[in-house]
Amino acid sequence: MLLFRHDAQEPPILSPRIPIIGHLINMICYKQDFYHQLGQHNPDLPIFTLPLGLGKMYIITSPALVQAAMRKKSLSFEPLTVAFAERMVGFGPNIMDLMHHPPANSESWLNAQHKPYDMLAPGAALNDMNARVLNSVADIINSVGPEFETKQFYIWLRNSFTRATTGALFGAQNPLTEDPKLNDSLWDYEGGQADLLMKPFPSLTARKPFQGRAALQEALRAYFRAGHDQDSDVSLVIKGRVEVNKKWGLPIDDIADHELGMLFVSVTNAIPTLFWMIFYVFHDSQLVADLQNELLGCVEEMEDSNGQRECIFSVAKFSAECPLLVSTYQEVMRMTNRQLGTRTVIEDTYLSHSSVGDAAGTPTTYLLKKGTHIQMPSIITAYAPATWGEDVHNFDPRRFITTGEREKERQQNRAFNPFGGGKHLCPGRHFAYAEILGAVAALVLGFEIVTPEGGQVSVPPMNNSLVEAVGKPLSDVQQNLLVNIRRRPGWEGVKWRFVAGNGTTDT
Ligand code: HEM
Repeated sequence: MLLFRHDAQEPPILSPRIPIIGHLINMICYKQDFYHQLGQHNPDLPIFTLPLGLGKMYIITSPALVQAAMRKKSLSFEPLTVAFAERMVGFGPNIMDLMHHPPANSESWLNAQHKPYDMLAPGAALNDMNARVLNSVADIINSVGPEFETKQFYIWLRNSFTRATTGALFGAQNPLTEDPKLNDSLWDYEGGQADLLMKPFPSLTARKPFQGRAALQEALRAYFRAGHDQDSDVSLVIKGRVEVNKKWGLPIDDIADHELGMLFVSVTNAIPTLFWMIFYVFHDSQLVADLQNELLGCVEEMEDSNGQRECIFSVAKFSAECPLLVSTYQEVMRMTNRQLGTRTVIEDTYLSHSSVGDAAGTPTTYLLKKGTHIQMPSIITAYAPATWGEDVHNFDPRRFITTGEREKERQQNRAFNPFGGGKHLCPGRHFAYAEILGAVAALVLGFEIVTPEGGQVSVPPMNNSLVEAVGKPLSDVQQNLLVNIRRRPGWEGVKWRFVAGNGTTDT
């Protein structure tokens, strides 16, 4: 029984067991587990229509169709951006007006936002940002001493790397350095975004994220009014965004509000990914030993002018010289990425791919109807046994090391989309690579990370959320997980340093 129209050319319907609302109930109750089950139980459906009460959604499971969909202009991210901007990001009427009334014959404001992302592509501007963030990463790890220190680990990592990242983007005068409490405000806002969107009267019903956002907006406005965005240590991506918005005539307070988005995206996925990578690695003493061996061949040692031992990693060397480190990073992302890849069909669209069709090899073409939402959940493509093998649920740090099986690797590359794709492919991926791999390389070679009792750490459970592109540990774990960290014997006196490099840092 259907409460919506369904054309025979549209993707086949996957009927729920409880008519009409079965999928909706399962989605609300089981969240990511629901999508996971959909993928595991329907390996032969490359795309299907999911009835959701009065409406429907298309789910794409075939990596080839995901790639084709990401390239289609008529499958757009913009309607959702506009829908979320006011309630979730808190944009005021000036920005909302630009979103709702794009000029008929020239580029829209939303499109104009893409140009500054060029500054996050490999090149001088990215090297500059990487150098700044890696300097701060060096400060964080050099502050750890030779005796075990017990850390509230997630919070320690979160706070120190948030400061490092925002410093690299917004310069030393950024609001989070000025007022460390804003660090909590940022994560309060991050943790309650869904509530801001869904709950009525969010100022009352979602107080924490609402107040966190307000505090950040106020601080960003003060930063912009004081002209700190023009300081010499501010990244070119931020300067580029500000320039675009000034050209569009936005007042300074709206320009400040807009940067809340950048503050948020720069930390929300990278820091949890770093957390998971540390735990997956330090959980496995053989992996730690193998990585240490690999990293010994990549680290440069020298003495500084005071005779102190310095160990230096050049981030540009990782891709050529540290295949296990890079593969571990990719495998961590395969295991922990939870992006849903949501798009909206803005005009009727035909979707097909040569690899999706009948036994005779004739591609099947699907009609996607205007106004329907599409999702391409990572948890489906990244956990498909047909692509990754029967051990898909196991963590295999060597999974991404090239073996020369070209067809298998081609299929896996297509199914591995932790950074999304198409026009919205995450522009921050090179920056994240430098920050995360730089930090993990130094931690593995020069530090011990164990439980407070001295045992091996285990990978904590992940929360089950539909709004996080990278899952976070459960809130109890975030607050209470204690870990001991110290310098590795033999590496006590080392000063860690990084070279940002100018090679490609793509994954
Ligand atoms: C491991 C870390 C990261 C992950 C897994 C990640 C993932 C993603 C994903 C899934 C998207 C949406 C893509 C889509 O819908 O197709 C995205 C967009 C974006 N990310 Fe990241 N991201 C990471 C780090 C960063 C960092 C460090 C920055 C900034 C320095 C950043 C900036 C952005 C921006 C600006 C967008 C919006 C792009 C657009 O709409 O065109 N990301 N990211």
